[in-house]
Amino acid sequence: MIDLHNHLLPGIDDGAPDLETALALARAAVQDGFTHLVCTPHIHPGRYDNTPASISAAKAEFEAGLQRHGIALKVAAAAEVRFGMELMVGINQNAIPFLGEWQGNKVLLLEFPHGEIPFGAERLTQWLLQHNITPMIAHPERNKGLMRTPSRLKPFLEQGCLLQVTAASVAGSFGPAAQSLAHALLEQGVVAILASDAHNLVHRPPKMTEGMQHAARIVGEHQAEALVKHTPWEIAQYHFQ
Ligand SMILES: [Fe+2]
Repeated sequence: MIDLHNHLLPGIDDGAPDLETALALARAAVQDGFTHLVCTPHIHPGRYDNTPASISAAKAEFEAGLQRHGIALKVAAAAEVRFGMELMVGINQNAIPFLGEWQGNKVLLLEFPHGEIPFGAERLTQWLLQHNITPMIAHPERNKGLMRTPSRLKPFLEQGCLLQVTAASVAGSFGPAAQSLAHALLEQGVVAILASDAHNLVHRPPKMTEGMQHAARIVGEHQAEALVKHTPWEIAQYHFQ
């Protein structure tokens, strides 16, 4: 499996605090069946002020650690980018790393505030699309606004935004509301990929198998494989060539 959303890079956000923890998470990821990760630390102005430089330094440290310890995991780095007007500045300054490519566009992993979808947010996603960037909305099933009003997703889907659902939500680890929205999105066939969004070993581990098995009961084995393997690979493969 290929994971396009996780916080394993050491010491730069609320994920792995240090290399040792990152390596323990990496071992757990391998055990669950991951072969490749695109690590996506937060870029959240004022909270996690990551830059391409801070991210690539953490990635180099992590990669060296993986090699030293013989952990068979290939890693690349991008970011989970917080919604906000600063994003336009970041894009114009080439300071925003992309998750990959999809149908000729770059793909950006976009995080909305957890309580709501900001009013007029689709204007920013439209701006991104006009710049040949396809937003991939991170874990819509865990957004309180979308739990209340799932139809709020409609304009984003009509624009061509992609959806990343967190595997643990599908399995029920984020509660019944997140699970039922995750299942509904799978039933509607609007989920592009599943990802782990791993932060730590205890509450948010680097696991996807259980979520994938739940998803397979909804969309079938073949499509579940596409959600954890084929589509993430198609999006992120250039990082690994
Ligand atoms: Fe995340």
